[in-house]
Amino acid sequence: MKFNKLLGIVGAASIILGVIGGCAPKQKKSTNENMDIKKEIVGQVDGKDVYQFTLTNAGGMSAKVLSYGAIVTHLYAPDRDGKMENVVLGFDDPAQYWTEPYINDAPYFGSVVGRYGNRIAQGKFTLNGKEYQLATNNGPNHLHGGLKGFDKVVWDAEPVMTEEGQGVKLTYNSVDGEEGYPGNLTISITYTLTKDNCLKCDYSGTIDQPCPVNVTHHGYFNLTGGAKTNVLGHEMQIMADRYTVVDETLIPTGELRPVAGTPMDFTEPHTIGERIDQVEGGYDHNYVLSDDVTELRPVATVKEPVSGRSLEVLTTEPGVQFYSGNFLLGNLTGSGGVVYNKHWGFCLETQHYPDSPNQPTFPSTILEPGEKYSHTTVYRFGN
Ligand code: GLA
Repeated sequence: MKFNKLLGIVGAASIILGVIGGCAPKQKKSTNENMDIKKEIVGQVDGKDVYQFTLTNAGGMSAKVLSYGAIVTHLYAPDRDGKMENVVLGFDDPAQYWTEPYINDAPYFGSVVGRYGNRIAQGKFTLNGKEYQLATNNGPNHLHGGLKGFDKVVWDAEPVMTEEGQGVKLTYNSVDGEEGYPGNLTISITYTLTKDNCLKCDYSGTIDQPCPVNVTHHGYFNLTGGAKTNVLGHEMQIMADRYTVVDETLIPTGELRPVAGTPMDFTEPHTIGERIDQVEGGYDHNYVLSDDVTELRPVATVKEPVSGRSLEVLTTEPGVQFYSGNFLLGNLTGSGGVVYNKHWGFCLETQHYPDSPNQPTFPSTILEPGEKYSHTTVYRFGN
């Protein structure tokens, strides 16, 4: 059932050596140490300038990031012959992201969603004896931060050059009461395009009142390059032995069910398409990662046999939502004029479990004043 739907130049000279957490550089030295991070102004939303940053690495990979929605619009990764092609769904024209038809379609292409990525039942939760009512924007439920979540606001943005590679740090101040959430939250994501072909996402935040916080990157990947076909032929492996069972509105029932012996089992690689017909509606489930580890560790691997591209996902989070683009219905024409039909991209949204504020047995998502919200997810591209 469906319910939703830069004018500055950054001189960058830094001396490079080092190991990236979970993403060790294969090259000892970068040749792009002095390359500039391109910053262009591409529009205005809510009276604020929107910038697009272009990050590049020595291997020729590049990423384009908008300050609107913290959206990764393009990500070029090499196939087995070294050919760079775009491996994410999105638009060539940034203005597409703030058009009404796109917003109503609600695919959240390449954005950061929050304050609470994924669903909260009825948009309600109780904290310290007080009930909060959030916007309900997905049938009866709250999804991805509400009517105007972090994917639809203009973030402050600054280019950052670290020993890991070129990056952009995006920061948003979400005020007390926004979309019904308590507390003033300052949230940041730094996207770094590392020397060894990773898109690294470092999230951090602080708040002045307790509030559930669960932000994630909502990128749709299609490793064929230029989204030539749907993603049903991609081979998926997810290191998770259970998933959160959901009701018909995609709210967890609280049960963590073993995947073994079911079409939900990706502990060994299977193509996305192999058993998808046996899963009502397609894959749109939170996988419970098979360990209690909060250090960065590999949680999923995807291979696309024709191009030879692969994607490895590492995260510090306890769950990952595997979404097989079930709600893409051919309504949107994206980068390169490609029509995004059903299953034209897949998401691996690293996160806390959906509806955690109403599920006492799930790991807590409450950020308290004085605490630091922090998590890291790495998307590593291979060929
Ligand atoms: C998440 C949700 C899906 C859908 C997409 C956006 O993956 O779990 O149900 O809302 O975002 O369309």
